[in-house]
Formats: sequence, structure tokens, C-alpha cells
Amino acid sequence: MKNNTAWWLRITVAFFLVIILMEVYIDSGDKPAFLVYPTLMFGFMALILLLLIAIAFIVQAIENVLYHTLDEEAKARYLSAKEEKWEWTWGKNMYNKMLGSKPMEDEVEIILDHNYDGIRELDNKLPPWWVYLFYASIVFAVVYLVRFHIYNDYTQDEEYAQEVATAQLEIEEYKKTAKGLVDANTVELLTDASDLNAGKTIFESNCVACHMADGGGGIGPNLTDQNWILGGGIKNVFHTISEGGRDGKGMIAWKQNLKPVEIAQVASYVLSFEGTTAANPKAAEGDIWVDPNAPEPATPAQESNTEQVIDSMSVSMN
Ligand code: HEC
Repeated sequence: MKNNTAWWLRITVAFFLVIILMEVYIDSGDKPAFLVYPTLMFGFMALILLLLIAIAFIVQAIENVLYHTLDEEAKARYLSAKEEKWEWTWGKNMYNKMLGSKPMEDEVEIILDHNYDGIRELDNKLPPWWVYLFYASIVFAVVYLVRFHIYNDYTQDEEYAQEVATAQLEIEEYKKTAKGLVDANTVELLTDASDLNAGKTIFESNCVACHMADGGGGIGPNLTDQNWILGGGIKNVFHTISEGGRDGKGMIAWKQNLKPVEIAQVASYVLSFEGTTAANPKAAEGDIWVDPNAPEPATPAQESNTEQVIDSMSVSMN
């Protein structure tokens, strides 16, 4: 009996269908399920492949058995039906139909009667695939025109605003779950005991050599007073710890060693020093920090202070 040449084709198609279905149904976030559960997926794939091959063999065997139970005439009919291999002929016919080209032997019917030094021209019809695409674009244009220019469904501006709003919501949603996603512009003072304790641990293992355990200062400035060289407030302190102090002063950029969330924790811990008394405090350096966003109206004296702090801030940013 003739072997069915398309069996491997069916297995391949089924296999990829299974892969696609798994991608669709397995919840693996933004990444392909393959990358999230590699061993599991490969094991499963191998199993599926074996299963598909086994099924192909079984079907083949059943066909074989059935074939031998047929009488001679039926066998012949069966073979000729199989010969046709409809999956191939259908595709081929469709392809030829869409190309719409005349077979070589019929070209006499469409040949034009000029003859340029032996070069003849055929009057081929436009290929149907192209013509259908063209019709489809006309239909699309009509629908589009009616929807957007007659009924004014929505404008591109509205579509844009809508997408931005959705994205904004997604970002908010994401930020809730991703605590590590802070920078100097978005950081807020952390007040949870767990965050402050984590900040304390980070401070004690990285910063005490220069700032002392009680923040009194040594090589680094006093962190317990109201004076800040590089600006106070959680955002400035976060920025200083993340990016480091002025060149050559000894305060390195900690973003190489600490994650954003850790910087936020240690910055909040540093700010909790304010108002405490250190055992051996270093003299105040820098200006008294006044939060420019503080609600109370600033007195003239405070105003000049604020300006100075903002000046020194912009110097440190540069
Ligand atoms: C090698 C010594 C050293 C270490 C370690 C160090 N600092 Fe500093 N720190 C300094 C110096 C020096 C300055 C002053 C920088 C300047 O004047 O530009 C400073 C400045 C600061 C400031 C700004 C103070 C102000 O008045 O504006 C903060 C906040 C700070 N450090 C926090 C930390 C934290 C948190 C750590 C640990 C993660 C740390 N430092 C580790 C030396 C150090």
C-alpha cells in the first residue's frame, strides 16, 4: 500500500497549533511561556510530539488493516482516490486561479499582433489576487468614509487620548505591584517600620564609616541637623544617595550597589535622623532646607533660604 506522504506535514501543523494554543492559554505575563517555564514546556512538547507520531502510526496501521479487508476492486478505487492527494491539488488549483496566468499552450489567444524585432507582447488579464485586493480596498474605503467622515465616530486625537489613558491606568496598576520602580522624581518618604528597619540595616552596613551610626557625621556631613549641602527632603536625599555627592568629596553614587527601593528605604531612614541628637555631632554644613512645596506661606527670610537651597540644588544637579 502506498504511504501517505502528508503524514509528517500533519504532525508539524498539529504540533505548531499546540504550541500556539499553549502560548494563548498559559498565563506567562509578557514573556513567552517557553522562557518562563522552559523545562516544563520542553518536556510537554516532547510528549506531544511523541503522542502525535504515535497517533500517526496507529492511523496508518488501522488503514493498512482495513485496506487488506477490501476486495480487489475496492482496493483499486481506494488507491486512485488516495492518488489525488486533495490537500496538494486544492492548494495548487487555488494558487493558479489567483495568479490567473494563461497556460503556455494557450498563449496564442492573447498574443498581440505587434512584433518588435521578434519580441511579442501578451495581453494578460490583471491577476485575480491583485484585483480582489483592489476591491477589498474599495470596500474598506467606503466603510471608513461612512464611519469616520459621515458619522464622525472618533478622531485620531480621541483615539490617542484614549490609548494614553489606558496606558496610564496600566502604569498605575504596575507601580502598585512594583515597589522597585522609584526614582528621584517619584520617590515618597517611606514611614513603614519595615521600610525604616530595612533602611537602618542598609545604613549600618554601608554608610556608618563616614556618617556614624547615629548620623552625627565624620568624613561625611552630619545628617541629624536641618542643614543640607545637597538639598534636603526625600527627593534630594534620594538623588544624592543614588548619584553621589560632589566630585572628590568621597560620597559615591550608590545606584551601582543599591536597588532603587533600597535607596528609598535608606533615604527615609536618613531623614528620620533629623531632630535626634548625635553623640558627637559634626558642625552643620550647607543651608537649612525648606521644602519649596511646603503649604505654609514663606516669610522673607525663609524665601531667601529657599532660593539658596534651590541654587545649590541646581549646582549639584549639573
Ligand atoms: C566614604 C565615605 C562615605 C560613605 C561610605 C557614605 N557617604 Fe554619604 N557623604 C559623604 C560625603 C563626603 C558627603 C558630602 C558630599 C558633598 O559634599 O558633596 C556625603 C553626603 C551625603 C548626603 C548629603 C548630605 C547633605 O548635607 O547634603 C547624604 C544624604 C548621604 N551622604 C547619605 C549616605 C548614605 C545613605 C550612605 C550609605 C549608603 C552614605 N552616605 C555613604 C561620605 C560618605
